Amino acid sequence: MSKPKVRTGIVGAGFAASFHIEAARRAHGADVNVIGVHARTDASTDSFAAKHGIKAFAELDALLEQIDVLHVCIPPALHEPVAVQALQRGIFPIVEKPLTGYFGDGAPDFDGREASMTDARTGALASIERMRAAEAASKACILYAENWVYAPTIQKEREILEKTKGQILWMHGEEAHSGSHAPSYGHWNLAGGGAMIGKGCHPLTAALYLKKVEGRARFGQSIRPATVTARAHALTQLPDFVDTGHIRADYVDIEDFAMIHVTFQDGTIATVFASDIVLGGVHNWLEVCAGNHRTICNLNPSNQMQTYNPVESQFDEVYVVEKIGTKQGWANTAPDEDHSHGFPQEIEAFYRTIAHGDAVESDSELAADTIATIYSGYVSAGNGGAAEPITLL
Ligand SMILES: NC(=O)c1ccc[n+]([C@@H]2O[C@H](COP(=O)([O-])OP(=O)(O)OC[C@H]3O[C@@H](n4cnc5c(N)ncnc54)[C@H](O)[C@@H]3O)[C@@H](O)[C@H]2O)c1
Repeated sequence: MSKPKVRTGIVGAGFAASFHIEAARRAHGADVNVIGVHARTDASTDSFAAKHGIKAFAELDALLEQIDVLHVCIPPALHEPVAVQALQRGIFPIVEKPLTGYFGDGAPDFDGREASMTDARTGALASIERMRAAEAASKACILYAENWVYAPTIQKEREILEKTKGQILWMHGEEAHSGSHAPSYGHWNLAGGGAMIGKGCHPLTAALYLKKVEGRARFGQSIRPATVTARAHALTQLPDFVDTGHIRADYVDIEDFAMIHVTFQDGTIATVFASDIVLGGVHNWLEVCAGNHRTICNLNPSNQMQTYNPVESQFDEVYVVEKIGTKQGWANTAPDEDHSHGFPQEIEAFYRTIAHGDAVESDSELAADTIATIYSGYVSAGNGGAAEPITLL
């Protein structure tokens, strides 16, 4: 039987666009034809197009005329307008994390450190409402590209919860490394915040997802977040910070450390750490403490493979693991990092939805709960960590 044909476009030509096109081309559930790309400059559009053998589009509109699916791989501040344009044309937007947020008041001298976090929350919630209204009016739907939901460790825990009907009492987790590579990261008006949103969204969404899974398995209804208490710090901006050059330290107006503590509707809890100050490669994990079992999901590093390299230069051409500072000595080498992070599984699942109508695990409701939790977290952090209610949309 021939597979349904799907025409795809990509907006953005950076880090995320690269792993999206790789994963789209590996999708099995549909016959995916990647038509073309549009990015901010003609030079970046042309070089990405040439590298991947696809067409370069100088205008987004021209690309939208030829596709059924759009991979939205651009800075967070642009997710809403581009995803809404796609939805209005009945095109499925696969939107990178975070779904959306608050990107300032438009003033050129906007400074996230001085901004009202209550206004930030109001703005972020309004953005989600506009996106979900566009989705409700469209024949397409938002596919929220939160890869943690599709990571093999998180999906195995989903199976355990579904089959054992376990009750999660506490989850704790982290996403951390020594600093994001993206030039837009560090500017609130492009990223919508710092570590709390940029990194915290990953383990937070996985925790919110697993609690939804638990509720569905136990009584047919999601358990959603109710309140949050959070702290945010800019450690690399402290006057006494000792800069040894190992940690990125040129952020403009964002936090580089966050702690988010969520209470769910049933009174159970999750605690998530997110930071840009951890050496030794990415540190991405989630531990689930349920009444009937305990699981540790190690997304990265994992010890599935370990290498010892006595001479740094021997591994010049060998990719070892994300953001490791040195390749000399012992390393938790990743044999297939994209797979451990859930990237190909996420894109496969989205193309199954597009081509066959499969239900979406990482949908706009999960994305909305994440954004609502994070911006109530920013309000809480601004009040020294006082608990804040979370608005569910
Ligand atoms: N899931 C993950 O683990 C993961 C990892 C990295 C990035 N991301 C997300 O992917 C998105 C992109 O991040 P990135 O790391 O690829 O950034 P990047 O800086 O590497 O690339 C951004 C791209 O956006 C393009 N762009 C900027 N403004 C544009 C505009 N007005 N019109 C068209 N294109 C425009 C740029 O030309 C560039 O190609 C962000 O939302 C980020 O949070 C997710």
